[in-house]
Amino acid sequence: MSTSPLAEVEKPVGIARLRDFVTSLADLLAEPREEAEILDTGSKLLARLVAHDDWLPEEFTRPHPDRYQQYLLHCDSRERFSVVSFVWGPGQGTPIHDHRVWGLIGVLRGSEQSERYTRAPDGTLRSLGAPEVLHPGEVEAVSPRIGDIHRVWNALPDRPSISIHVYGGNIGAVERATYAPDGAAKRFISGYASGLLPNIWDRSNRA
Ligand SMILES: [Fe+2]
Repeated sequence: MSTSPLAEVEKPVGIARLRDFVTSLADLLAEPREEAEILDTGSKLLARLVAHDDWLPEEFTRPHPDRYQQYLLHCDSRERFSVVSFVWGPGQGTPIHDHRVWGLIGVLRGSEQSERYTRAPDGTLRSLGAPEVLHPGEVEAVSPRIGDIHRVWNALPDRPSISIHVYGGNIGAVERATYAPDGAAKRFISGYASGLLPNIWDRSNRA
C-alpha cells in the first residue's frame, strides 16, 4: 500500500523541512497524475513548508542591491521539479513573464504582489485585475492551463521579501518569455543566482 505524499513520517526541524518537502513532492510525482491534483496536493505541501520561517540557510536569503535573486534550493534528478528561493530587495520586481510549466509560489517572509495577465484577441496583454497581495504562509499557482502570465514584485518598500517557488521542471533551464505591455515576447532563460545547494541530506542530529 502506498503512503500519501501528505503523510509526515517524522516531525522535521530546520533544513529537514526542505528535505521532507522534496521527498514528499517526489512521492507525489512518482505516479502519473492530473495537473490539478499536483497543484492541489503540492500547494498543501508548500503551505506546510512556508508555515515556518526557521529553515532557509542565510546564504539563500541575501538580496542583491540591483535585482531580485533566484537561488536554486533543489532540482529533482529527473528534472521533474525544482525548488528555488526568490529574494526581493525593496522595490524589486519581475517584468511580465510566463513559465511554460506548472508553478507554486509560497511566501516565506515579507509580502509580495502579483498581477496576472491574459492575451487579448489582438495579441496585446490585458491585466486580469487588481494585484493580489500574498502574505507569509500563503500559496498561489500558475500554469499554462490555469493562467501563466504575470509580474511579481516586493510589496514592502523598506525590507526584503522571500518566497519559495516550485516548478514542474528545471526552471532555470526552461526556455520561456518576458513580455512588453504590447505583447511583444522576448526569449528568456533565467538560470540561477547561486552556484551551491543547501545540504538537505545530513541526517546526523545537528539540525
Ligand atoms: Fe513567475
